Amino acid sequence: MGGLPEGMKGSDMTDRNLVVGLAHCRVSDSADALATAAAARIVMLARESLAHSGRFVLALAGGNTPRQCYAQLRHANLDWLQVHVYFGDERCLPWGHPDRNDVMARAAWLDHVPIPAAHIHSIPAEQGPRQAAQAYAEVIRSALPLDLAVLGVGEDGHTASLFPGDPALASSALVVPVFHAPKPPEERVTLSLGTLNGARHKLFLASGVGKRAILERLGEHPELPAAQVREAQWFVDRAAWPG
Ligand code: 6PG
Repeated sequence: MGGLPEGMKGSDMTDRNLVVGLAHCRVSDSADALATAAAARIVMLARESLAHSGRFVLALAGGNTPRQCYAQLRHANLDWLQVHVYFGDERCLPWGHPDRNDVMARAAWLDHVPIPAAHIHSIPAEQGPRQAAQAYAEVIRSALPLDLAVLGVGEDGHTASLFPGDPALASSALVVPVFHAPKPPEERVTLSLGTLNGARHKLFLASGVGKRAILERLGEHPELPAAQVREAQWFVDRAAWPG
């Protein structure tokens, strides 16, 4: 499969490149095939960025969906010394808490590849939303624009920690505090919509029948946060695909 290095699992996917209301969508047969397809795309984008600029700067999604994709990226044959990892959002939990997004990404992927520790930029969400957002804006500022933002979507249409109707959605800051997230914990830190939209590539992952309804709604509800991420490529599995 395109650019998939040795060691990464093959896939039985029969993907269909479909354009849905707001995005270019690739449908895979299963969650595993989705993880393989998304990992292959991330490797391709990494190689393009490394060849073009000598580095690859990406922000990672949290939640559960990306876990399988991240695990497959352990096997990617990349110049890891030139990869710089940021996070799209983080939950305001103590450092090392099992529910943190950086803990998930490190366990699934980052701890298994030789990315320099200094190139993995966790959000200091343990400091609380406001202080962490201010601190992370100074950390990420010099790295922008991102080459890639990896994103998930919630059943309510949120992405990163940008939730429908939350004032964070309208912020012009680089990084925004969130105080009343409907998905626990309620205190979070998130890259702003502007920062996410400034990324050269945006890649959404959505898996499972629980995401079918929101994928159906996004096309008719441009006000939803995930719908406001422009020119994104979506990787979904058949269970989530409304078509
Ligand atoms: C978080 C994530 C969040 C996530 C979606 C989808 O902190 O929870 O950043 O935006 O990507 O809620 O989560 P699942 O992949 O677990 O469905």
